[in-house]
Amino acid sequence: MDTQKLIITGGKRIEGEIKVHGAKNSALPLLSAAALTAEGECVIHNCPRLTDVDAACRILNHIGVKCRRDGSSVVTGADSLTCCEVPVSLMREMRSSIVFLGAVLGRTGKCRLSFPGGCELGPRPIDLHIAALREMGAQIKEEHGYLDCTAPEGLKGADISLAFPSVGATENIILAAVLAKGVTTVHNAAREPEIADLADFLRKCGAKISGEGGDVITVQGVDKLHGCEHTVIPDRIAAATYLCCAACAGGELVLSGVNAAHLGAMIPLMQTMGCRIYTFGRDSVYISVRGRLKAPLTVRTMPYPGFPTDAQALLMAVCAGAEGTTVFVENIFENRYRHVSELLRMGCCIKVEGKVAVVQGVKRLSGAELVATDLRGGAALTAAALGAEGVSVISEIHHIDRGYENIELLLRSVGADIKRK
Ligand code: EPZ
Repeated sequence: MDTQKLIITGGKRIEGEIKVHGAKNSALPLLSAAALTAEGECVIHNCPRLTDVDAACRILNHIGVKCRRDGSSVVTGADSLTCCEVPVSLMREMRSSIVFLGAVLGRTGKCRLSFPGGCELGPRPIDLHIAALREMGAQIKEEHGYLDCTAPEGLKGADISLAFPSVGATENIILAAVLAKGVTTVHNAAREPEIADLADFLRKCGAKISGEGGDVITVQGVDKLHGCEHTVIPDRIAAATYLCCAACAGGELVLSGVNAAHLGAMIPLMQTMGCRIYTFGRDSVYISVRGRLKAPLTVRTMPYPGFPTDAQALLMAVCAGAEGTTVFVENIFENRYRHVSELLRMGCCIKVEGKVAVVQGVKRLSGAELVATDLRGGAALTAAALGAEGVSVISEIHHIDRGYENIELLLRSVGADIKRK
């Protein structure tokens, strides 16, 4: 059990520069994709040091892919896959390990995974993944908590229409399709930048993919993939997190290693609240926050390029102390307001009804004993605590470590009073 805590004394102005790490949600599918490359090594740069990435490396090792860290890079060699099963213990470490299904099945024609089940965000069904793989010729049995998948004659290309632009389903289809026979077309595909990063990586490995970033993606199957060298895109949610930390605490912050185009739903909204935000150079964003911010009227989470569900809790932490009332509508996950009960302990005024949360800004948040309920919820509590009066103690921070590299060191380097104990 995790006993570490973050101890934050709020009210310290933030000033300085933070370099944002590579995207967790890109690194995970890229590591899965590396399992498809039968020749040569994959060198994946800017691969963040996160517990979820460690879990993905353990899965690779378990199925027979050599995987080692070299500084901020991960190097893999997948000339042979010796095992097609991901056991319960590894699946439980990281719900998104479902992204290994498409790659292992595509490479070997077999895959046995423990059913990922629910998580802190709600039930997290995988029906779209399963239906798509069945259309590609996979036979899938769901028994005794396991998914047993086989494609005795290999997978074949298919015309797939997703009922919802699921990120994970789009990734699994691409991963399954790159070595399938014929052409796969995904309609209503997810358009997240992490999908484009996966397509870029796979193309460097010899795959034929087009249309990523739009809602129709086409994959022409090839016989074999080889290793490549690739740099993971910047983590847009980590960038959004540090913008929200600055907005809660006040001060001036430069974020480097950022792709501002991926923050298209975030930056203009924060500007309307009164944050001064500029992008400069190739990959930097500057934010300056003085005085109390104005609450935006409505925030609706949507698939990319809409406002990201992963930044909902973070922006709520900012709005909780802003002037005015904001209505949040969470359209992606059923259970993504678990941070609200913790924010209430800090004196926030928030009411939740189904997928709607009404946040009435209060003048001052007060430090409290808090529990990180999930990854982004935990990051939101950290941001709120930076702007609160007094000391906050956040427990269950293993959730935060799944997605943020050295969060307390980075925030301390820009003047926050935060330590891990
Ligand atoms: C990815 O999850 C991200 N995870 C999530 O980030 C992110 O919140 C989410 O996309 C939405 O942007 C990774 O990339 C590893 P989805 P994913 O499939 O792929 C429903 C974080 O904090 N659905 O797009 O699981 C589903 O229940 C994490 O970093 C089905 O109904 O998201 C949800 O309501 C949390 N059936 C919606 O679609 C399916 O078969 C979106 O899910 C699949 C999904």
